[in-house]
Amino acid sequence: MVDILDKAMRSHDLDKCEIVRLLSIDDGVQQEVLFKAADETRQQYLGTDVHLRGLIEFSNYCMNDCMYCGIRRGNRTLERYRIQPDEVIKVAAQAYRLGYRTIVLQSGEDGYYTGDVMCYIIRGIKEAADVAITLSIGERSYDDYKRMKEAGADRYLMRFETSNRELYKKLHPRMDFDNRIQCLKDIKSLGYELGSGFLVGLPGQTVEDIADDILLLKELGADMVGIGPFIPHPDTPLRSCNSGSLDMVLKAVAVLRLIMPDINIPATTAVGTSDPFGRQKALKAGANVIMPNVTPLEYRQLYQLYPGKICIGENPQDCRICVEGLIRSVGRTVGTGYGGHNG
Ligand code: SAM
Ligand code: FES
Repeated sequence: MVDILDKAMRSHDLDKCEIVRLLSIDDGVQQEVLFKAADETRQQYLGTDVHLRGLIEFSNYCMNDCMYCGIRRGNRTLERYRIQPDEVIKVAAQAYRLGYRTIVLQSGEDGYYTGDVMCYIIRGIKEAADVAITLSIGERSYDDYKRMKEAGADRYLMRFETSNRELYKKLHPRMDFDNRIQCLKDIKSLGYELGSGFLVGLPGQTVEDIADDILLLKELGADMVGIGPFIPHPDTPLRSCNSGSLDMVLKAVAVLRLIMPDINIPATTAVGTSDPFGRQKALKAGANVIMPNVTPLEYRQLYQLYPGKICIGENPQDCRICVEGLIRSVGRTVGTGYGGHNG
């Protein structure tokens, strides 16, 4: 293992076999050596800052039926909500006043927010607040991506979820893997900072699949990468499957940091849900971003992609204080700039 880590730290380049070997480490001491190497790489390339993104979950309507997702259209038990455009702008301005310099606008795939409506929201936020805007609203037309970029959107986040085509097909009825990858390429070519990522522990996923996921992120030239454990939701077809392993998520974060040393990697909310110290552990295994929730409280419990999601009872100010404490507790500092990959 030491030879692979040496190579990774020197060249930031590993082949699939080497990645599989690192992901297969099951000895606690060796895992710590991997996390330490990733932590050192993060320190060398990015320093101690952890960047905060204020996450606004503005609609839980979704036209898709992803088998694992709590807001899938097939979940008829869920009360649906849409935050109106002017209120989204207001919430973003409040987040700016709390100190956030990046706002993430996330929703299900909801056609109510047409390209025009999204451009209205983006322009409104840019007038009201000096923030970078990340969109996370799924697959759109090239034209929509282009117009939203021109309206001022800076970054776009869309996981491919798994690079295993067979598995992708099983888990995403009526969706097309090639289209999702094409969207990611379009987004990158339009000059957005590109965010993507995958789920760990999907039923049927292998360690080789995860190695392929990591290599695909490198090939796409991702600027930021979110990796989260799959957490079964009781109102989905995958309700009785096992959760993804936190250790595997942490190993994937560490390997990614080694081969993409200067990208942004969040300690995801799902990691914090699967273990009370999950986000701290991720920050020590290569992560450098946290995305606290700034969605108004009345909507939070309706955006449960998976059960037990943390922070659904905390108001945005308390959440910020809590996260700043978490960051300091692992000896890190809170970033004050936009915290993009390119500044
Ligand atoms: N609709 C947008 C899209 O498709 O990119 C963004 C919203 S989507 C709900 C955000 C992410 O939630 C997905 O990319 C997926 O990885 C994650 N997610 C959904 N269900 C999950 C579950 N049961 N466990 C863990 N993560 C989940
Ligand atoms: Fe939200 Fe702790 S991160 S309350």
